[in-house]
Amino acid sequence: MKILVTGGLGFIGSHTVVELQNEGFDVVIIDNLSNSSLEVLDGIERITGKKPHFENIDLREKKSVQDLFVKYQDINGVIHFAASKAVGESVENPLLYYENNINTLVYLLQELQAKQKTHFIFSSSCTVYGQATTMPITENAPVQQAMSPYGNTKQIGEEIITDVAKVTTINAILLRYFNPIGAHPSAEIGELPIGIPQNLVPFITQTAIGLRKELSVFGDDYPTADGTAIRDYIHVVDLAKAHVVALQRLLENKNTEKVETFNIGTGTGSSVLEVITTFEKVSNTKLPYKIVARREGDVIEAFANTDKANSVLGWKAQSTLEEALASAWKWEQKIRR
Ligand code: UD1
Repeated sequence: MKILVTGGLGFIGSHTVVELQNEGFDVVIIDNLSNSSLEVLDGIERITGKKPHFENIDLREKKSVQDLFVKYQDINGVIHFAASKAVGESVENPLLYYENNINTLVYLLQELQAKQKTHFIFSSSCTVYGQATTMPITENAPVQQAMSPYGNTKQIGEEIITDVAKVTTINAILLRYFNPIGAHPSAEIGELPIGIPQNLVPFITQTAIGLRKELSVFGDDYPTADGTAIRDYIHVVDLAKAHVVALQRLLENKNTEKVETFNIGTGTGSSVLEVITTFEKVSNTKLPYKIVARREGDVIEAFANTDKANSVLGWKAQSTLEEALASAWKWEQKIRR
């Protein structure tokens, strides 16, 4: 089975390629290297013993997408990661986000429609729920007005796919990720943030290694037990495996709707201070941090009800927060050597 993985050299994409190859799939990666590196291919090969096919293609170039499907006529399924994902940048430059995340999705779906392809997995985000009123969040929680152009591209992406699936052969699974962290336990691949990390865990590991002076904790006056915000941190390898089972469901025609949606998280919420304490424990370091004002646009808490993924996909997150943070730390230590 040949699977196309767009953005396959990125953080979640590369871990998913490893799990796909471990399950025997033949993978074609396309990536424009805008936020990734060719060295990731070597990491994937060292873990799996196999180098995936790679094409340096920018999905914004429609002709390249058409040529790709001519070159690889036997693609059985597509997992679509390629997208920009920095919330702040999307506020500064919304058109970049609408072009990178929406135009590309349209071009890809046009090709799938033209070639009568059927199986499509989309990277969505728990950001579509905004501040949900009940925890844990089920897939039935209402989608709320997006707080950033980035978040809006995930909502619009879900709508586009739903509209297209109604009138084409396309069947899709939308995976709404909670907060992906960690790295492959081999430390051959992991997260490679460009510049100053915006996300919590890469900022923590870069602080612990001495690249950053201290972590700023954004707010300790939230209505939570310790006053800091709560998220559902999921090990990227668990998240990667969710893509494989979702894909298998489509390939085996087990889906019951044209478009199915699943929350992918651990089901457990952790506060920022809990993440810091757990990190200090697994890394045996003392993390310098200070409390600062809340970050604009942050929700108080978000953690998943994963019953649907557990029962329908037969998937459950396996790793603990300790394991995920330990893997992130091992990776950080390796890349700074
Ligand atoms: C963010 C995005 C989300 C996106 C996800 C993946 C926002 C508002 N949300 O999720 O849409 O899908 O990244 O890229 O940007 N924190 C600190 N100090 C830091 C960094 C983070 O205290 O230096 C706190 C945040 O306030 C938050 C938690 O850590 O409570 C997690 O933050 P982060 O890793 O940025 O993820 P989200 O904001 O949940």
